[in-house]
Amino acid sequence: MARLQLKNLEKSYGGFKAVHGINLEVEDGEFMVLVGPSGCAKSTTLRMIAGLERVTGGEIRIGDSLVNDRAPGERGIAMVFQNYALYPHMRVRKNLSFGLRLKRRPKPEIEAATQEVSGILEIGELLERLPKQLSGGQAQRVAVGRALIKKPQVFLFDEPLSNLDAKLRASMRVRITDLHKQLKMGGLQSTVVYVTHDQTEAMTMGDRICVMKEGRIMQVSDPVTLYNHPANAFVAGFIGSPEMNLVDAELSDGLLRLGSQTLRLDDGLRARLAANAPKAVIFGVRPQHLQIVESDADNALAGTVSHAEFMGHEVYLHVQVESQKFIVVTPASGYDRGRLRHDKIWLRPQPDAAHIFDRQSGENISLAAAIGQTSIQSKSHQGGTR
Ligand SMILES: Nc1ncnc2c1ncn2[C@@H]1O[C@H](COP(=O)(O)OP(=O)(O)O)[C@@H](O)[C@H]1O
Ligand SMILES: [Mg+2]
Repeated sequence: MARLQLKNLEKSYGGFKAVHGINLEVEDGEFMVLVGPSGCAKSTTLRMIAGLERVTGGEIRIGDSLVNDRAPGERGIAMVFQNYALYPHMRVRKNLSFGLRLKRRPKPEIEAATQEVSGILEIGELLERLPKQLSGGQAQRVAVGRALIKKPQVFLFDEPLSNLDAKLRASMRVRITDLHKQLKMGGLQSTVVYVTHDQTEAMTMGDRICVMKEGRIMQVSDPVTLYNHPANAFVAGFIGSPEMNLVDAELSDGLLRLGSQTLRLDDGLRARLAANAPKAVIFGVRPQHLQIVESDADNALAGTVSHAEFMGHEVYLHVQVESQKFIVVTPASGYDRGRLRHDKIWLRPQPDAAHIFDRQSGENISLAAAIGQTSIQSKSHQGGTR
C-alpha cells in the first residue's frame, strides 16, 4: 500500500530553516494538495519526498518503508514539473518510454505500456512528434504520461499547470482529477501529492488540502471544511475568492465594535466563542455573506461604495466602512453602473456566517469545538471526508 507519511520533517538550507518539522499523512489513493503562497516550502517538501533534496530532520515513509536514504529511483515515485522537462530531441514515443528503456524492460512490454498510457491520455496521435511540435497542453499531457508509465506508488506534481493559459488550466484540472479517479477504479495505486499556489486548483482537485505558510502547516482538511471552518485568519484569507473580508474589531459582551459602529453577534456565534475571548480580534466575513440592506438598518454597517467590478452574473462592490475596506459579492441583476459609485449602503453579515479570530495568534476563536480539534491536526483519520 502506498500511504505516505511525513514525520517532524525538517529542512535547513545553511542557517535558514525552510521546513519546520511538519507532520502529514497521505492515505493510499488520496489526492492531497499542498497549497500556500510562493516561498512557503511546497517545492522543498515535495523534493524531499522525491529524494531530490536531502532531509535535515524527521522521517519520510512510503508504504511501510523509511525512504530517507533511498535514491529517487528507488522510492516508487514519479514527478511532474511545471516546465514539463521533456527531452527536446526525442519524439513523444521515446519521451514516454524513456524510464522503461533505462530499466531495460523487454520491448513488447514497453510497446504495450506506451499504447496504454497514450490511450488514457489521448496522445496516441502525437507519438511521432517532437516536443517543439506540441502545444502547452499536449506537452503537459506527455509529461503526465511519462510519469504514469512508471506505475509509481506516489505521483508528485509541482505546479504542473502554471505555464498554461487560464482556459487550458481549467480543462487540465478536470483531466488530472479524472485520471486519478480512473486509476483508482482500475485498482492502480494512485496516491497523489499535488503542489500549487492557486487556491482554485486546491479547492477543485484535492480530496484534502494542506495549507502551508512559511514552512509550517496551517490546516489540513477537505475543501468544504477548510472553506467553512478555517482554523485561523491565514487559511480564511487564503481559501475562497474573492478573499474573505478580515478587519480589525474590538469584542466585548457579544458586541463587535468596528470604528464607531457596532454589530451584535448572533446567538450561534456567541455560543461558540471561547469564554476567555480576547478584546482585540479580527472580524471575518466572506464577500458572499454580506447582505446589502438599502436604508439605515438594524445590525448593519454603514459604508460607501468606492468601486464596482462587473463580473457578468455578479458584481464585486468595494465598500469603504470608515477606515476599513470590504468587498461584497452581489447578483448583477439590477446593477446600475452609473449609480453605485459613492452611494451610501448598509452591509449586514449573514447570521452565523461570520468568524472571529484572535488578533494576536490569528486563531479562529469562533469554531465549533469539535471542528477546531479535528481539522487543525494533520491526522489523516480525523481529516474529514474524502
Ligand atoms: N537551494 C536553496 N538554497 C537556499 N534556500 C532555498 C533553496 N531552495 C529553496 N530555498 C528557500 O526555501 C524557501 C522555500 O522555497 P520553495 O520550497 O521553493 O517554496 P515554494 O515552492 O512554496 O514557492 C524559500 O524561502 C526559498 O528561498
Ligand atoms: Mg515551488
